[in-house]
Amino acid sequence: MALREIRLEGDEILRKKSRPVEVVDDKIRELIKDMDETMHAANGVGISAVQVGVLKRIIVIDVNYDGKPSIKLINPEIVKAKGEEEFQEGCLSFPNKFAKVIRPNEVIVKGLDENGKPVTIKGKDLLAEALCHEIDHLDGRLFVDIMEPGTLEYIEDDQGKENDK
Ligand code: NI
Repeated sequence: MALREIRLEGDEILRKKSRPVEVVDDKIRELIKDMDETMHAANGVGISAVQVGVLKRIIVIDVNYDGKPSIKLINPEIVKAKGEEEFQEGCLSFPNKFAKVIRPNEVIVKGLDENGKPVTIKGKDLLAEALCHEIDHLDGRLFVDIMEPGTLEYIEDDQGKENDK
């Protein structure tokens, strides 16, 4: 396992579209482990492969920090979304920056697990938000693109850091 460098605001890679994973092999599993470790080390609740410089459709999410394994999804796709909720959102690529974003508060996402098996994840509230946020990353879309105008704020120190994705 290893920590990887998190790409930050302004890095052009964050605007690129990630490619689907064709074969789920040990190299992919190693990348996922590194993403998980990098996310936790930065106190984030979600991370996408592009944020560590790899243009592959992979996301890792841990909204609870309850010791249970993180959600790891390869080639995730939102198949159903409903509801609407306003979230205070951050991103590991935008340290200390937060904004209000309106997203569905319930989603169903399909993808593959670390063994290449199809899985379906149901997410509500914060998990729904995190799934949408990370899947947006895979298409080069960032929370600042869809935030409510005028809500971007800079918050010093660790306040609200648990919202970083
Ligand atoms: Ni993010």
